[in-house]
Amino acid sequence: MSRNHLRSPCCEGGRKVCGPYVLRRVAFAAVGIGVLVVLLSACQNDSRSIALLDSSAITAPSSRGYALYQANCAACHGASGRGNGVAAIALEIRPRDFWNEPFRYVSTLDGIPTSDDLAQTIRSGRLHGEMPASPWLSDEDVRVLAEYVLEFNRLGWVERLSGDESMSAADVEEIASDRVTPLEPIVVPMPSPDFRPSSEVGRSLYVQACASCHGPSGRGNGLNMPLDDRGRQVMVRDLTSDPIRGGASPTELFKRIRCGVPGTPMPAQLALTDDQVWHLVFYTRQLMGRPIGQTSP
Ligand code: HEC
Ligand code: HEC
Repeated sequence: MSRNHLRSPCCEGGRKVCGPYVLRRVAFAAVGIGVLVVLLSACQNDSRSIALLDSSAITAPSSRGYALYQANCAACHGASGRGNGVAAIALEIRPRDFWNEPFRYVSTLDGIPTSDDLAQTIRSGRLHGEMPASPWLSDEDVRVLAEYVLEFNRLGWVERLSGDESMSAADVEEIASDRVTPLEPIVVPMPSPDFRPSSEVGRSLYVQACASCHGPSGRGNGLNMPLDDRGRQVMVRDLTSDPIRGGASPTELFKRIRCGVPGTPMPAQLALTDDQVWHLVFYTRQLMGRPIGQTSP
């Protein structure tokens, strides 16, 4: 699985959130993180003040994960992972609420991220989604953090399922664990040997599978005011100019088209052959202004 797709495609396709704009926002968020780190280190020996932030933070799994999370992530994602950190107000894109929102950048067909999917987000950031990279973290730190945020997601399932009184505590635990256990990730295959990217084939597949939402020419004007699965408005991406947050490399686009973007209306494409998905990958890149033979992000 490619891990290098996010050698930041910044600015290549994205006129909206590039350069100084992003830097300003990240800098602003960094100030927020700094404030939080200072606050937290001031009360590090007082576990009661951490409990005051949100008692549910304490139920999360490891103290190492806790420390890493509070120092690097809580400013945006909130002390207990509910997407409500102090720096979140500075961001145009909401930081994920790990308890209640699905993860979006996945390589599985059940919409549950693998720890590699999460690690990729944590390591490289989703700059176009206003989530910064964390290059200073060790591989082990990243793994611990991936487990830590997935545990928030599991606790979210426990919280929601516990509302159903007909379910025993054991059932709740079992179903919640199941909801954070991904299927095997898809393997991004090589196109078959006789595959040739073709604008005509790509275009006709695009018209069938994508144009109803992304619009006939990819400008994101096919579907009016779509909602995410929590009933909040999402924008259909303008493929000709909006940044691709999950990564614009052919491999990442293959995963996005095959697996969909969970939690948003963008569906997984289960019925297409691998070569058909490849045609769509190259057609999407053509809409983005990438010549059809070019494979770099
Ligand atoms: C400056 C604010 C900020 C900081 C700091 C931050 N994030 Fe995020 N994070 C975001 C935003 C905004 C999103 C939503 C991005 C999107 O939708 O494209 C996000 C999304 C995510 C996702 C969801 C990816 C997916 O597949 O949907 C994960 C996981 C995540 N962050 C983990 C972390 C971890 C772990 C840390 C600490 C190492 C961290 N974040 C630090 C802002 C931040
Ligand atoms: C039912 C509506 C719908 C259909 C059909 C649909 N999309 Fe999307 N697509 C969306 C929405 C909504 C988003 C924005 C998701 C978000 O906010 O993260 C999106 C996002 C994307 C992205 C950006 C993902 C990222 O990493 O940021 C790409 C690329 C994309 N779609 C391509 C396609 C292609 C190619 C097809 C056809 C195979 C398709 N979409 C079909 C609604 C749709």
